[in-house]
Amino acid sequence: MTTRSPYVSERFTDRVAVVTGGAGGLGMAIARAYSSEGGRVAIFDANLDAVSSGIASLQKAGVSPHSLLGLHVDVKDSSAVHQAMSQVAENFGRIDSLIAAAGGSVGTPTKLEEITPEDLDLVIDVNIKGTYHCSAAIVPFLKAQGGGSIVTFSSIGGRSTSPVTGIPYAAAKAGILGLTRRLAREVGPNNIRVNAIAPGLFLTDRLQGTFDSMSEQDRNEVLDSIPLHRMPDLRECVDPVLFLASDAASYITGVVLDINGGRFMSG
Ligand SMILES: NC(=O)c1ccc[n+]([C@@H]2O[C@H](COP(=O)([O-])OP(=O)(O)OC[C@H]3O[C@@H](n4cnc5c(N)ncnc54)[C@H](O)[C@@H]3O)[C@@H](O)[C@H]2O)c1
Repeated sequence: MTTRSPYVSERFTDRVAVVTGGAGGLGMAIARAYSSEGGRVAIFDANLDAVSSGIASLQKAGVSPHSLLGLHVDVKDSSAVHQAMSQVAENFGRIDSLIAAAGGSVGTPTKLEEITPEDLDLVIDVNIKGTYHCSAAIVPFLKAQGGGSIVTFSSIGGRSTSPVTGIPYAAAKAGILGLTRRLAREVGPNNIRVNAIAPGLFLTDRLQGTFDSMSEQDRNEVLDSIPLHRMPDLRECVDPVLFLASDAASYITGVVLDINGGRFMSG
């Protein structure tokens, strides 16, 4: 459960964000926080049931149905993504930000001997190509509007050698950093900022059970690798994402923000 940041209010009045993977753990927390600050949100997610229940839970939390759009979109499908982006612009009359959270290991194995070529394709397609398709689809709208921002999702697994996730995930999340920097260079003159976040382990509902089922020794090992020596609240990922999407980050582009309690420190 994400609580509202005490530092900010109503930064996103009348603005519109597309949150991919918006029916998932981090995406839904971001969608909720963005709408709690006056913004309107379109969720793109491949899980239709989760889109419906996510939209229902946002409405139950008090978000107006007019400020929400839930779309069943597979980010691997370029034409579906382009079509959905046009639908968002038509529905809300503008688009300001892309928060590209769709991704992850998507159920593929971690061990090299168990990873099939199809697993590799899936992880690369969802994470890298999905981020690319969504970025390519939003850029014309942001250009026409005079600017905007894109936040991509890397991971500590793409910044260092996390044993929790596999080689395809590490490759995809490292690739997203190259995509982010190159895109930032290309669209900077159009006043479009592109930045990445690289979260450590955030215990969404999906991951909390896995963490709880680990032995105390394994849990302590995880904690001992984190200088701040605690697991984060989801809000501690949501706030940096909203910062990058907001005008407070107006001169920041092409960076990667590590959000990991100090577990990986870049040189
Ligand atoms: N939670 C963490 O600890 C953590 C750490 C580092 C990076 N990340 C990254 O943050 C992002 C969100 O992670 P999360 O923990 O919320 O994961 P999650 O699994 O809870 O949510 C991911 C969402 O993406 C959706 N999705 C998957 N494939 C899709 C596709 N092809 N098209 C559209 N939607 C699709 C899923 O349906 C799901 O709702 C991911 O990119 C993940 O790799 C998460």
